[in-house]
Amino acid sequence: MQSTNIHPIFDRLLQRSDREKQLQQRSKVLWLTGLSGSGKSTIAQDLERRFYNEGFFAQVLDGDNIRSGINNNLGFSIEDRKENIRRIAEVAALYLHSGVITINSFISPTRQIRQFAKDIIGKDDFIEVFINTPLEVCEQRDVKGLYKKARKGEIKGFTGIDSPYEAPLNPALEIQTVNMSIQEASGMIFEYIKPLIQL
Ligand code: ADX
Repeated sequence: MQSTNIHPIFDRLLQRSDREKQLQQRSKVLWLTGLSGSGKSTIAQDLERRFYNEGFFAQVLDGDNIRSGINNNLGFSIEDRKENIRRIAEVAALYLHSGVITINSFISPTRQIRQFAKDIIGKDDFIEVFINTPLEVCEQRDVKGLYKKARKGEIKGFTGIDSPYEAPLNPALEIQTVNMSIQEASGMIFEYIKPLIQL
């Protein structure tokens, strides 16, 4: 029988609650979704600093960084984006169970992809934040020059141009970045999450 000589030790392993107690916080997964150039990464970085200053232990997971490391074998087809998000959600779940708050900054373009992440993380810990910046504004900013390339056809399957972005229907929080500073945006997210992470 396969199950003989197996001695589970789960009850002796440290639990998430032990870690949370040590870190003096409740862990959560903040999930920022929005178009490329919507401000996700900048807001995430500001938020990370804010958590740090307020004594919380938080870590940013970001598209461009993750894609140059753990996910450097993935492209931008819908299938690859789904695999990108699946791995990130698994990583965020590991952080979650070690008591750490993560700020995830990924386009995560479709409702199905985000639902997938939510299923991996668990609905009570997955906090969806829609960084709502209109395509025209992202394209006008074009910080990385990618929209220009996409319009010229030099990048195929670019989100918002020739690959879909589906806005969340019922996010926990929506941040309209037009006429809002990065600090205001990160402040709004912080005020929302604070009661949920306080022990
Ligand atoms: S996701 O769709 O799989 O969630 P992710 O957030 O990891 O995307 O990566 C998005 C970043 O990759 C963009 O901010 C941009 O810098 C870069 N990128 C390169 N090619 C594309 C593309 N075809 N569509 C969108 N972003 C792209």
